[in-house]
Amino acid sequence: MKVSKASTAAIAILMLAGAGVVAQDSFTPPATPEAAVTARQALMREDGGILRSAGGLSGAEAVAALTRLRENYSHIPALFPEGSIVGDSEALPAIWENWETFTSIVDEGLAAADAGIAAAEAGDAAGYASALETLRGTCGQCHQQFRS
Ligand code: HEC
Repeated sequence: MKVSKASTAAIAILMLAGAGVVAQDSFTPPATPEAAVTARQALMREDGGILRSAGGLSGAEAVAALTRLRENYSHIPALFPEGSIVGDSEALPAIWENWETFTSIVDEGLAAADAGIAAAEAGDAAGYASALETLRGTCGQCHQQFRS
């Protein structure tokens, strides 16, 4: 098969786009339980700050805030390697006994963030507020079951 110039260019563009995605979200999973605890506690505090201010945002600022929150949520499972309860961690062993429940709450948060981003892009204030409510719900839902 002869590869045309056009498709070679298209492949190059796709490769550049792929590299761009990797560079944007340069997440490396923690190497030790201690690093996991430190990273997830920092991530949780950041999410708290984002949620506190997100209600007052709209448009591009709201999109940026929820994009960051969404990125953080996508890292939650990797920040809970099995048995990583060390130092001042408040994580409960129930996390790894109910891993699917734990990750399903994360998935619910990801879906709510997507909905919030779409609503903010569309200027749908009610949809945005409702997505924030759902997101806030996932914090409590998870803490109730999985944090001491
Ligand atoms: C899927 C589960 C899950 C979700 C979702 C979640 N958390 Fe957490 N959170 C935890 C666990 C488990 C801990 C305890 C981590 C540890 O100490 O090792 C924690 C800890 C925290 C802490 C304490 C951090 C510290 O410095 O010790 C804060 C604050 C927090 N979460 C805020 C939030 C907020 C705000 C949200 C929602 C935007 C949220 N969390 C969503 C599971 C979750």
